[in-house]
Amino acid sequence: MSLPGDNDAVRRAGAVLTVDLGAIAANWRGLRDAGRAAGRPVDCAAVLKADAYGTGATLVGPRLAAEGCRHFFVAHIDEAIALRAVLPELPIYVLNGLLPGTEGDFVEHRLVPVLNHLGQLNAWRGAAQRYSRPLDAVIHVDTGLNRLGFNPDEAQVLVNERGRLRGLRLALIISHLIASEEQNNPVNGEQLSRFRTFVKAMPGAPASLANSSGVFLGPDYHFDLLRPGAALYGINPLPDQSNPMLPVVTLNARILQVRKIDAFQTVGYGGAWRAARPGRVATIALGYADGYFRTLINRTHVQLAGHRVPVIGRISMDLTTIDVTDVPEAQCQPGDGVEVLGAHMTPDDLAEHARTNAYEVMTSLGRRYARVYVDRPELQPEPEPAEQPA
Ligand SMILES: Cc1ncc(COP(=O)(O)O)c(C=O)c1O
Repeated sequence: MSLPGDNDAVRRAGAVLTVDLGAIAANWRGLRDAGRAAGRPVDCAAVLKADAYGTGATLVGPRLAAEGCRHFFVAHIDEAIALRAVLPELPIYVLNGLLPGTEGDFVEHRLVPVLNHLGQLNAWRGAAQRYSRPLDAVIHVDTGLNRLGFNPDEAQVLVNERGRLRGLRLALIISHLIASEEQNNPVNGEQLSRFRTFVKAMPGAPASLANSSGVFLGPDYHFDLLRPGAALYGINPLPDQSNPMLPVVTLNARILQVRKIDAFQTVGYGGAWRAARPGRVATIALGYADGYFRTLINRTHVQLAGHRVPVIGRISMDLTTIDVTDVPEAQCQPGDGVEVLGAHMTPDDLAEHARTNAYEVMTSLGRRYARVYVDRPELQPEPEPAEQPA
C-alpha cells in the first residue's frame, strides 16, 4: 500500500497523518444542530487548544469559521495569537486566563481572557481603565471541578458587587463539567444547578456549560453556547455507545525493513517478544517520540493489505516492530505503508490499548508526520432548496 498524498514531504516522511477538515466541519454542524434541536437559538463554539487536539488549529479554525462557527477557545495566549493571524475578526477566548503582565498582549491581539479569579478580574478592569475602553471578559465559575474558575466565595463576591465588572463587558459566563461522559452520574445535575444559580444572579450575560459529552446530556445543559473540543475531532463523546461522530484522522507509517527470524528469537529492546515459529518482522517508522506510546508493548495491531498485524516488542523512540509472518511478501515491502489509525483502529481504540484516553492519543500526534489535509465534498450539507416564486 502506498502512502496518501504525493508531495515532497510525503515522499520523505516516515509516517503520514491525514486530517479530514470536512469531517471536522460536519461534526461541528452535527453538534450545533443538536443544540438547536430543542428550538432555542443555541450557538456552537470550537475548542482549538493543543493545536486543535493535534489536528492543526490554523487550518481547522478558518475551516470552521467558513462553516459558521463564531467563537473559538484555546488554552494559552500564544495559541490565541497564532489563531488571530488566520481569524482576524472572530472572538478568541483564552481558557488559562490572564497571566500577570499579559494585559497588553490581550489588548493588542484583541483576545478575550477567561477570568478565573478575582485577581484576574481586578487586573483586567485595571487594563480597561488604562486603555480607556471597555474590554470583553469571560467569567469562569467553578461548579465542582476544583481546578480553575471563581470558587463559591469569590463568585458570591461578584454577585454582591457587580461594580467589580465596571469598564468590562461580560461576554460570557462558563463552567466546566467533571464527568459529562457518565450520563447517569448525579454530579452532572449538581453542577448544573450551581451553574444555573450563578447565571440567574448575573442576568444579561450569555452562558456556556457543555463540552462535547455535555451536549449529549440534553437541552438543560446547552444554555447559549456549546463548547465542544474532542467530538469535533472524532473522539467518541458517548464512551459506552456507538460513536455518533465522523472519524477525522488516519495515520499511515512506512515499512523501513523486513527481516526473517527463527523460532525462539527475540525482537527489540529487552527481548520483550519471542517468536513461537519462524517468521518475518517488519520495522515501521514511528515510535514513542511520535506519540506511539510505550504502553502499547505487545498490546495492539496495525492493518496491512487487509491483514490485522500485531505490534510486537517494545516501542522504540523512532521505530516499532510488527509481525508480518501471515502477510504475503509481495504486500509487505520496504516503502509500503501500514495503517496505524483509521477505520480499523480509532483513536479511542488505540487509547484503550495504551491505557489512556483518546484526548491524549490525539494531542500526542507526532510533530514529525507529514500532514495531508482533505475536505471531502460528500460531507458538505445539501444546498438549501432555492425559493420558488409564488
Ligand atoms: C474549559 C473547557 N471547556 C471545554 C473543553 C472541551 O472539552 P471536550 O474536549 O471534552 O469537548 C475543555 C477541554 O478540556 C475545557 O477545558
